[in-house]
Amino acid sequence: MNRGPFLFLGLFLILASSWTFLLKQSNEEFGKLTALVDEEQGGLLPRGVKGPAAHGKELYQELGCIACHTQQVRVAAGSDIERGWGERQSVARDYIDQGRVLIGNMRIGPDLTNVGQRRSDEDWHLLHFYNPQITSEGSNMPSYPFLFETREIVGEPSANALSLPEEYAVEAGYEVVPLREAESLAAYMTSLKVDYDLDEAPKSNEVMAEELAVALENAQ
Ligand code: HEC
Repeated sequence: MNRGPFLFLGLFLILASSWTFLLKQSNEEFGKLTALVDEEQGGLLPRGVKGPAAHGKELYQELGCIACHTQQVRVAAGSDIERGWGERQSVARDYIDQGRVLIGNMRIGPDLTNVGQRRSDEDWHLLHFYNPQITSEGSNMPSYPFLFETREIVGEPSANALSLPEEYAVEAGYEVVPLREAESLAAYMTSLKVDYDLDEAPKSNEVMAEELAVALENAQ
């Protein structure tokens, strides 16, 4: 008897059922997640990446920033919260509005999930992109001078020209001006913050204790 067709059918069924299970299981777990509507915390959460920040997100992908940076606060690793990278663990709902999720898997530099909270000044980011040594001496991050234009000052200096420290200053009569790309990337950086609470991601005990201590102090 030729067992070929049965063997084929058996293999097909095994593969098909495991695929179905895989898809169904993840859809059950994550597929139905929706944004949270919470007026107290400012409406729809997460808030989404919009405007220049969305352009900045595209550049983040094009320039390969993901090779050195993650966007996921982990508690299993123990110290992400101690490092000051976030107040709570990242969960699936934090990512639902992001077309492409940029979690990353290399941490040559700090996690950027909340970089907009600890570094909210776009000018800091612009100087840092132009040359990381200006803001962070000894940094391993590459510089991105092609996001800026060095040009002769005609009349008044431009309002958005970088204020470079003396040792990095360009020739007298010239200024360094961020291109739209640099500004979008800085806008993306300052937009990155998870400053809302989700029931499924409670803050760590340490963070809650700290908040309680501050509240008690204020109450006195
Ligand atoms: C070769 C690895 C590498 C690449 C590529 C890289 N970075 Fe970094 N980045 C670092 C390191 C290391 C630091 C820490 C030192 C510093 O602040 O410069 C850092 C720091 C940062 C910080 C400050 C974070 C903080 O908590 O202070 C930001 C913001 C940042 N990088 C954004 C970017 C962006 C945007 C890109 C892509 C345009 C990028 N990085 C590409 C390695 C990298």
